[in-house]
Amino acid sequence: MKTIHALVAFCGMAWLASSPSHGESFDARITIQADRPGAMIDPNIYGQFVEHLGRGVYEGIWVGPDSPIPNTRGIRNDVVAALRKIHIPLVRWPGGCFAENYHWRDAIGPRAQRPRGVNTAWGDEVETNEFGTHEYMDFVEQVGAQPFISVNVASGSPAEAQAWMQYLTAPAGSGAGQERARNGHTEPWKIPFIGIGNETWGCGGNMTAEYYSDIYRQYVSVLKPYGRLIASDANSDDYAWTETLLGRALHRHPADMPTTLAYISKQPQIDMISVHFYTFSGNDWGKKSSAIGFSQADWARSMERTWKTDEMIARHSALLDRHDPEGKVGISFSEWGAWWATDKNRPSNLFQLNTLRDAVIAGLTLNIFQNHAARVRMANLAQMVNVLQALILTNKEKLLLTPTYHVFDLYQDHQGATLLPTLVAAPNYSSEAVKIPSMSASASRNARGAVTLSVVNIDPSREANVLIEVQGYLPRTAQGRVISATAMDARPEFGQPDPLAPASLRVTVRRGTIAFVAPAKSVAVLVLQ
Ligand code: AHR
Repeated sequence: MKTIHALVAFCGMAWLASSPSHGESFDARITIQADRPGAMIDPNIYGQFVEHLGRGVYEGIWVGPDSPIPNTRGIRNDVVAALRKIHIPLVRWPGGCFAENYHWRDAIGPRAQRPRGVNTAWGDEVETNEFGTHEYMDFVEQVGAQPFISVNVASGSPAEAQAWMQYLTAPAGSGAGQERARNGHTEPWKIPFIGIGNETWGCGGNMTAEYYSDIYRQYVSVLKPYGRLIASDANSDDYAWTETLLGRALHRHPADMPTTLAYISKQPQIDMISVHFYTFSGNDWGKKSSAIGFSQADWARSMERTWKTDEMIARHSALLDRHDPEGKVGISFSEWGAWWATDKNRPSNLFQLNTLRDAVIAGLTLNIFQNHAARVRMANLAQMVNVLQALILTNKEKLLLTPTYHVFDLYQDHQGATLLPTLVAAPNYSSEAVKIPSMSASASRNARGAVTLSVVNIDPSREANVLIEVQGYLPRTAQGRVISATAMDARPEFGQPDPLAPASLRVTVRRGTIAFVAPAKSVAVLVLQ
C-alpha cells in the first residue's frame, strides 16, 4: 500500500512533462527499495561456459606456444586481458555435450604424445587434445577465474571422475600428485565446482529423471570431498525433472544416518541444481532467426522468450523452497544465451554474429538472475568466445568485443553487491501476438555504499522517460552509461569503430529523484551516490 502511494505521488511530479523526449516515447517509473536489502549478488552469476566446439577453445583461447599470435604458454594474451578487464569469475569446461565424450587422461602429459580423438558431439572434427586439464587450469588462473569442471556421466564412470579430481587436488606426495608434478604442476589445485553430467536427459545419457537421480547419488559418494556439486540440468521448464531429482537425491538415505557422521548426513547432497535455457526467436528449435537482418516480430519473440527465464527461475525456486526451506541449495543457470541460425557451411561450429539484440537479451537476463539472487548463485553464458552468444569474437590475430561483452562490462559493479528490490511501472511492449513488459531493472548496493541500477528498454521503437525514486537512500550524484543504436541489428565489425561501445548518459538528480531518457532498445547502467 505504502509503495503504491509513493508511486502515485511520484507520478504527479510536475517536471516529468518537461523530460526530454525525441519522437515516440513512454513514461516509466522505477522505485529502488534501498531500505529492503536482499541477498548478495553472487559474482558467479557472471560466469562463462567454454566447450570444445567450433573455434571456442582452439583459436578462441588456445593458439599454442609457437603461434605468432601473442600468447602465454599457448593461451591468447588479448583474450585473457579482455576477460580480466570485466572480472570474469568462473569458467565452466569442457562442455556441454562434448564433456559427455571426454576422457581427461587423453589430454595430460606431453602434448606431442596425446592421442588425437574425434569430437563426436560436434561435427566429428579432430580433437587434438592440445588443450587439456593443465592448459585449462593455466587459462583460468591467467584470467583470475575459478574452475568449474563438468564430469562425464554418459560414457564415463564415477571412478574416472574421482581419479580426475584426485589428479587435480591430491597432495604433492601422493601417487596422483606425483603424476601431476611429472606433468608440470607440483602443487594441488582446488576445484570449487563440479558438474555431474550435462543434459543427462539428452546428450548426457538419454536418462529419465529417476535413473539420473540414482546415478547422481553414486557420483556424490565419490566426489563429495572435492568440491561443490552441481546436478545435471533440467531442460528449461522441465519442473518434473527438478521435482524428481530433489525428491530422490537431495538427501542421503535415512537408514544411512547411524553409520555415517551425522553432520555429513544432514548436508544436502546437491549444492546446486542447474537449468539450461536458450533464447531464440519464438519457441521452435527448428526455426531459428538469423543473427542479423531479422524483423521486428523476431525481435519481439526473442524478448518474449528471454522473459520466460523469470518464470522458470521462480518455478524451480518454488520447488527448492519446498524441499530446501533453509535455502542451502542454489540454482546454477549453467547454459544461457541467444542461439541464432548458424553458418550453413559449418553448422556444428555454432558461430554467430552479435548485435544490439544480444546486448538487450544479456541485460534482461542478467537483471532477472540478479533479481532472483537468493537462489541463483551461478550462471554460465553460452559460450564465451566464438560460439553462440559470445563475449569475444576472434579472426586469426584479430579480436572483437561484442555488444554482450559491453553489458558484462557495464554490470561489473553488481558483482558481490547486495540486491535492492526494484518496482517498475511501465507500459507493455506489444508486437503482433507478443505482449511483454517493456522495461526491466535491477539494483544493488556495493560495499562502498554506491547504488548501481541497470535498466533495459526492450521496446525497439520508443524511448522511455524514466523517473527513479530511491526509498531509504538520498542520492546526490548520478552517472550513467548506455549501449544503444538505431538499427536493431547494429553490430561491431573487425577493425572498425564500435557503434555499440558504451556512451555516457545524461542523468539529472533533483531532491533525490533521478531522471534520464532510456533510448529505444538500450541497456543503461547508472551509479548513484
Ligand atoms: O552450448 C551448446 C550445447 O547446447 C551444449 O553442448 C549442450 O549442453 C546444449 O544443448
